[in-house]
Amino acid sequence: MRFDAALSNISKKSISFGKSLLSTIEPFDTDDKVKSTGNGIILPMYVYVNNRPVPKAEAVVSVFDHGFLYGDGVYETLRVYDRVVFMLDEHLGRLYRSASLIRLTMPKNFDQIKAALYETLDVNSLENAYVRITISRGHGPIGLDPDLCKEPTFVIIAEDMKDYPQSYYEKGIKTVIAQTKRNLKDALNPQIKSLNFLNNILAKIEAKEKEAYESIMVNASEHIAEGTISNIFFYRDDILCTPSIACGILDGITRRLILDLAVREGLTVREGEFTRNDLFAADEVFLTNTTMEVMPVCKVDAVRYGVGSVAKLLRKVYRDEVRTYVESIKGSGPSLLGI
Ligand code: PDD
Repeated sequence: MRFDAALSNISKKSISFGKSLLSTIEPFDTDDKVKSTGNGIILPMYVYVNNRPVPKAEAVVSVFDHGFLYGDGVYETLRVYDRVVFMLDEHLGRLYRSASLIRLTMPKNFDQIKAALYETLDVNSLENAYVRITISRGHGPIGLDPDLCKEPTFVIIAEDMKDYPQSYYEKGIKTVIAQTKRNLKDALNPQIKSLNFLNNILAKIEAKEKEAYESIMVNASEHIAEGTISNIFFYRDDILCTPSIACGILDGITRRLILDLAVREGLTVREGEFTRNDLFAADEVFLTNTTMEVMPVCKVDAVRYGVGSVAKLLRKVYRDEVRTYVESIKGSGPSLLGI
């Protein structure tokens, strides 16, 4: 009874106060569902759900979706520069590998995903964007058995790229070493880019509680592993060091490219097992991922680092590589754009 009364109260208030109250009780953020083109034309933002783009406010999935109930699904984060999806084949390759590792049959083939992706960019008029492709097991009765779900749920979210503040690149970001250990790789394979991110979220909470931006996670053997959404590098005794895949980390696409670029630049690189004391003794530390690219670190716990020449060099050559990639794709005609 009380609940009904409360509900009718809300709907009465909604009617009398209009959208301002409604927006406080709506589950979706309606404020940014429109995009201004800069010439007075307002476009609704669209999210691709299963087989078509739908307005953001209508982009919903079932509460019985096993992605929601169990984190049963996989995803990829991609970055679009000047309407070209950077390293698209590498990201889609990893998406398919993640799906295969959880025995999820992809609902679309490579070309269909590319077409859906470019349709989403087009309908939102996006040039420089953040893209997330999410595929969950789909909806079905409660229970862990994946066969309870008949069809995977397929979602593409694409938004204007909100760059990290320039000051982060100039001064570096603060990090801490989390108490939360990286999941055992034999318990949950880190090559599965899964929707189940609680291990990393717990470490991120630790960072926030200590007013740091990112946590660095160590593995069960106390070796440095990775950030919550990033891979880690450090420069010490003229060697660029990064934890090896065997440390239980995601094989980051940016990490691999940075290793190649570093070798091309004549740096000595070492992938291996490192302790927190190795990190504390470093001259420079930086993080990599698809959205932050190369992000210098100014602090790990109480140890401070300058933004050094190696991070600056690698950030520059990474950006040059992006430019070359974008130009080469653009120069090779529209078919390579997946449309
Ligand atoms: N995260 N390690 C983890 C745990 C990650 O989640 C990511 C990427 C990386 C870097 O991978 P890449 O260079 O391929 O982006 C390393 C993305 C950005 C995300 O979760 O949105």
